[in-house]
Amino acid sequence: MKRYAVFGHPVAHSRSPRIHAAFAAQCAIELEYTKIDASPDAFAGAVAAFGRAGGLGANVTLPHKLAAAALCEQVSDRARRAGAVNTLVRASNAWHGDNTDGVGLVRDLQARHGLDLHGRRTLIIGAGGAARGVAPALLDAGIGALVVANRTPASARTLLDAIDAPASARACGLDSLPMLGAFDLVINATAAARGDGLVALPASLVHTGSAAVDLGYGAAAAAFLDWARDAGAGVQVDGLGMLVEQAAESFMRWHGIRPNTDPVYAMLRADDG
Ligand code: ATR
Repeated sequence: MKRYAVFGHPVAHSRSPRIHAAFAAQCAIELEYTKIDASPDAFAGAVAAFGRAGGLGANVTLPHKLAAAALCEQVSDRARRAGAVNTLVRASNAWHGDNTDGVGLVRDLQARHGLDLHGRRTLIIGAGGAARGVAPALLDAGIGALVVANRTPASARTLLDAIDAPASARACGLDSLPMLGAFDLVINATAAARGDGLVALPASLVHTGSAAVDLGYGAAAAAFLDWARDAGAGVQVDGLGMLVEQAAESFMRWHGIRPNTDPVYAMLRADDG
């Protein structure tokens, strides 16, 4: 049996086994996909043991995405720019690293929600791992002017430098938000602050043609998306579609087949009730 896994800490909540089992059934591939909880200290050893035991690929979730990059003999260009690896692929007794988060978001927005990203003036709120994971793919998709706003403005600048952003991209603090005018795409990529913890955002950030996206889903995304609706953004999107699409991209790396994500997305929505 081909072996795959998701590493995290905690990992009990992960939906990846359910998603990959559904993809595998759809594509008639026999595989085992398990959850492996490894503390940061134990992560490198656990991945090595998984490889020795025949593991062919893994997803990596918080807090290991940076550490995973360090274990790889090679990383893809998109993983290098994202500064993080969410997909490990076994090749010649070594791990190759990739990052499918950004392309997963872009695919969800374009294919599922029918958004044309080209030229969209884009605001990313937050400058941590989640923001860095998606920013390169958004730039590659042709978004317009990019602003990264963060509680700690220096981290926003660091992010732009790390992803080779164009010189027109701007970094700022959250206190500048009322002065920035409206954006066509506003992405909440703050972590602990998703929802209630975030500072009050000005309604001037959105217009009726804006899409507001929270990279989280369920309760974690509710407050930001409620704000976006009340502020008048025409489209609100949570991170569930991105979750399915990044998984499909990982599946493609491992099995060379692109699964149909629509029924799996519908299954996860139904789980949420
Ligand atoms: P992740 O990998 O999920 O992005 P992270 O790397 O810890 O997590 O980054 C968390 C992000 O949420 C950061 O942009 C952080 O801002 P700082 O760089 O100033 O820490 C942001 N964040 C966390 N709590 C916040 C809060 N209460 N208000 C605003 N931003 C917050």
